[in-house]
Amino acid sequence: MALIPIVYYGHHPALHKIAEPVTVFDEALTQLIQDMYETMYHAEGCGLAAPQIGLSKRIAVIDISEEKNKPFCIINPEIIEKTGSELMSAGCLSVPGTYSTTPRATHVKVRAQNETGQFFEIEGDGLLGHCLQHEIDHLFGKLNIDYLSLLKRKMSLKKMEKFLKRAE
Ligand code: NI
Repeated sequence: MALIPIVYYGHHPALHKIAEPVTVFDEALTQLIQDMYETMYHAEGCGLAAPQIGLSKRIAVIDISEEKNKPFCIINPEIIEKTGSELMSAGCLSVPGTYSTTPRATHVKVRAQNETGQFFEIEGDGLLGHCLQHEIDHLFGKLNIDYLSLLKRKMSLKKMEKFLKRAE
């Protein structure tokens, strides 16, 4: 297994465009997903999407459990049902050092494929629902700070750059 460097807002084109669907489900994909789990745990995130490691593919991994032992991946996911709306404050590994408030559905149902290409459905509200929406947004080139006004986004990006400088 291997850690993969995470890319930051404005630092890599993959973060800001629609990712390509996955069509080949092979050993390399399984390995990539293992590496994404490891990278997510190492970064202490509850989700990680492929564009965040500079890869324009519709793959995301999620684990919202306290014990960090219930990882799953969603490949080519699609939101097939959405109900309610609420505001959610969340961070993002690609915009470190910042939080932003984003409008989210309260409940979503998602259809996706697993690492062997099998279709499955997953639904949730609360943290799971928000995480699903956040990661699926990444696969369409959208980050949570993109919901902010231009001014607030600029402030968040300044904060991020300061954070990255301190972390060097
Ligand atoms: Ni994110």
